[in-house]
Amino acid sequence: MKTLVIKNLKKKFGTTWAVRNLNLELEPGEIFVLLGPNGAGKTTTLKLIAGLLHPDEGDVVINGIDTRKNPLEAKSRIGYIPDEPFIYSKLTGREFINFVAGIYNVKHDDYEKKMAELFKRFGVGAWIDGFSEGYSHGMKQKVVMCQLLLHDPQLILIDEPLVGLDPKSSKTVRETFIELKNQGKTLFICTHTLSFAKDIASKIGIINVGEMKFIGNLDELSKISGKRDIEEIYLKLSEESVNETIP
Ligand SMILES: Nc1ncnc2c1ncn2[C@@H]1O[C@H](COP(=O)(O)OP(=O)(O)O)[C@@H](O)[C@H]1O
Ligand SMILES: [Mg+2]
Repeated sequence: MKTLVIKNLKKKFGTTWAVRNLNLELEPGEIFVLLGPNGAGKTTTLKLIAGLLHPDEGDVVINGIDTRKNPLEAKSRIGYIPDEPFIYSKLTGREFINFVAGIYNVKHDDYEKKMAELFKRFGVGAWIDGFSEGYSHGMKQKVVMCQLLLHDPQLILIDEPLVGLDPKSSKTVRETFIELKNQGKTLFICTHTLSFAKDIASKIGIINVGEMKFIGNLDELSKISGKRDIEEIYLKLSEESVNETIP
């Protein structure tokens, strides 16, 4: 069964299309990387899939579950990290993780071991028991990465996973994503880090002014653009187009 099916998805803010007629299908074990300039519609797309925004038109189906008809059921299959990870400032990182595990109905005994492994993997130190108001962006990113995996989501949505992470943590994130892919999970990642797309994506999408211009693997995009380097490919395929307003 396909993990994600998006049909004719549309979202407008005022008179501007943020996402226009998006169609996409992802299988288990795929890493889809969405690239595009600032304001292209990447975050809006992720929020529409995660159910944080309602589309003007179109459907999102996750593991066969229609997100309009069964929103809670669909959300239980998703792990989502927004571009600005939010942690209540007066909670410690550990309390935040326990809080989110509670929302997903994951029992403490069931995730304690997994949490310890994740802390080790991401180099989470004693700071996890300090208030999150003192955390750097990278520390928050590590907490939400650990939290993300506790309820074993089939579809993982991440907006800019590498922002604020040190090189070692970036490498860990990259390795974790590949491991998840090998477990048959589906990942949908928005990023500006082109090397990341080149290294781990099984499929790359390029969005501009709300429109998915190209979808394919690196070889296919290379052929279409006539370029070989990922930066050249991206620059060629994401060339400016005029933002059309709704009449
Ligand atoms: N809540 C909002 N209200 C009005 N316009 C928005 C809102 N969120 C996004 N937009 C607009 O939608 C477009 C796409 O934004 P976004 O999805 O955040 O792009 P990206 O993540 O690719 O940088 C932009 O033109 C942005 O200004
Ligand atoms: Mg964004």
